[in-house]
Amino acid sequence: MEFRRIGDVEVSAIGLGGMPMSIEGRPDEERSVRTIHAALDAGVTLIDTADAYHLYANDDGHNETLIARALSSYGGDTSSVLVATKGGHLRPGDGSWTLNGSPAYLKEACEASLKRLGVDAIGLYQFHRPDPKTPYEDSVGAIRDLLDAGKIRMAGISNANPEQIRLAREILGGRLVSVQNQFSPAFRGSEPELELCHELDIAFLPWSPLGGIGQAGDLGGRFAPFAEVAAAHGVSPQRVCLAWMLARSPVVIPIPGASRPASIQDSAAAVDLELTGDELELLSR
Ligand SMILES: NC(=O)c1ccc[n+]([C@@H]2O[C@H](COP(=O)([O-])OP(=O)(O)OC[C@H]3O[C@@H](n4cnc5c(N)ncnc54)[C@H](OP(=O)(O)O)[C@@H]3O)[C@@H](O)[C@H]2O)c1
Repeated sequence: MEFRRIGDVEVSAIGLGGMPMSIEGRPDEERSVRTIHAALDAGVTLIDTADAYHLYANDDGHNETLIARALSSYGGDTSSVLVATKGGHLRPGDGSWTLNGSPAYLKEACEASLKRLGVDAIGLYQFHRPDPKTPYEDSVGAIRDLLDAGKIRMAGISNANPEQIRLAREILGGRLVSVQNQFSPAFRGSEPELELCHELDIAFLPWSPLGGIGQAGDLGGRFAPFAEVAAAHGVSPQRVCLAWMLARSPVVIPIPGASRPASIQDSAAAVDLELTGDELELLSR
């Protein structure tokens, strides 16, 4: 496994996204635990989750609980695993995603995540998405308070534009260690944020890096260059996609989601796939 850095923590260059194991279409717990264990076996030491990764009104934190259980039932050493969770999104249970970025709510949400993860301090806590009803500086101020109180070790933001990244950096200083934005062959709109993270040396975590649940399986069919390069190397287009992202900048750490062991095993192997300059150029077009 290749390692990259989030703040002062070394993590695997490919993380595991937990969302497919807890929202619509989620598998049973036994398969999810096997998937998380397969990630750990493959050397993955970054797991991305959120309190909002759940399905019903009354199962908030489904994914956090699942990850905590899978870590405790794993036979090997999990001390180097960074669990990155988020607060600020909610799912009322009707399929929608709502927002609450108020400081009081974020502090309450963090307490609930601490309990579910069974830790004294959360390794990386990310503000999930800007809430138009709350000034951004107030939401990020709450994250600063959580850092100061020792409830979280490191802070990240998600779905942020360059202006919000700069504002969060003013408020959190060097304690802002990551930005998690959508980035994939299907969605390249986060290039400016990726560039800014590179410049500021902040980890950039592409979400839905393979195009998202439901689209990821057909990445090669939708983006011919990825299929072409994959065929040349005898690997999957998904693996090519992740290797392409890793080559973009040392701050990039993709977090492909999985609900089957084979998916994360294949994705984790992207760290060993070297693409030529011509291939990278073709994929970036
Ligand atoms: N911050 C945010 O607002 C935000 C929003 C969305 C997602 N996220 C995070 O980002 C993570 C990744 O995004 P995502 O899960 O939406 O989408 P994704 O990673 O683009 O796609 C996930 C799907 O890809 C499939 N897959 C994974 N590796 C594969 C491989 N090597 N070959 C073929 N198929 C493969 C998986 O299939 P199987 O299920 O069959 O294993 C999974 O359902 C999420 O899990 C979540 O942690 C964050």
